[in-house]
Amino acid sequence: MTPHDFPDSRDFPDASNSPDFSDFPRYLAAKRTVDDRALNRPVWQAFRDCLPAHRPLRVLEVGGGIGTMVERLAAWGLTNAPVHYTLLDADPANIAAAQERLAAPPSPFRVECVAADMLTFATSQPPDAPRWDALIAHAVLDLVDLHRALPPLLALLRPGGCFWFTLNFDGDTIFAPEIAPAYEDHLMARYHRTMDERRVNGQPAGSSRTGRRLLTLLPRLGAEILAAGASDWVVFPRHGAYPGDEAYFLHFIVATVQRALQEDPAVDAQRLAAWAAQRHTQIRAGELVYIAHQLDIAGRT
Ligand SMILES: C[S@@+](CC[C@H](N)C(=O)[O-])C[C@H]1O[C@@H](n2cnc3c(N)ncnc32)[C@H](O)[C@@H]1O
Repeated sequence: MTPHDFPDSRDFPDASNSPDFSDFPRYLAAKRTVDDRALNRPVWQAFRDCLPAHRPLRVLEVGGGIGTMVERLAAWGLTNAPVHYTLLDADPANIAAAQERLAAPPSPFRVECVAADMLTFATSQPPDAPRWDALIAHAVLDLVDLHRALPPLLALLRPGGCFWFTLNFDGDTIFAPEIAPAYEDHLMARYHRTMDERRVNGQPAGSSRTGRRLLTLLPRLGAEILAAGASDWVVFPRHGAYPGDEAYFLHFIVATVQRALQEDPAVDAQRLAAWAAQRHTQIRAGELVYIAHQLDIAGRT
């Protein structure tokens, strides 16, 4: 199939009135099983080994969403020592969902939820405020300007404090089976560009090459990288169905690409709608495979 063979929206009469797949808390909950598979285990091990044993820990997670990381850390056995966990997210709706989800947090966690922008939070700490033993940023550093965010974030750690920066997008988005690969390459290039051009309050906020940039920037900021490795999302059907709520995860991803590109003058909106409709149909049929290349990094200050 060439790009010119790609179906247009007339082949998909439901393209304009399909569900909008914009339930972000449901997407984050559905993402959990995808992330569980993706997280790089040697990097996780390095992070765990970096933490001091047998003493209470202060852990800060920035961009923590609805709090699924706390559940994962408890299930994966981060530590047996008491953990005072500060879960911060810029979106008050996510924080409200986290508070509900973690109303009875798993042992040994005590969770404090904070609705705040991570940069504002990091730069407004009093000089004598206690520092954290560990900093976690999961699927979020590709949404901030690393040069501005990393120095104040790393300064929140005590000297020798550990960080675990996970699912940092790194430049490749793949859908299969292949349909019109040249057209889809064009769409993905434009999609990645929206990540690079993202602005929040007029300031740069994100990059499609966050993974590799962290690997060079962290040492320049004086941080030591202890381990790094791939943490690609790989979502595929088993006997025509997806585990858990991963079909919703996929619908959300396809809808996100469509939303990101629908105002792009270099992308024909009708054809984009046809692409999205075809990918949604493949999800319903249990045929779509989706891969996103990402990197995990563990280290210490
Ligand atoms: C892709 S979601 C990941 C959420 C969570 N880490 C997870 O994987 O389930 C990114 C999260 O980062 C939050 N976020 C984005 N920019 C932020 C900022 N500057 N400060 C704090 N939170 C931010 C968003 O509100 C969102 O909840």
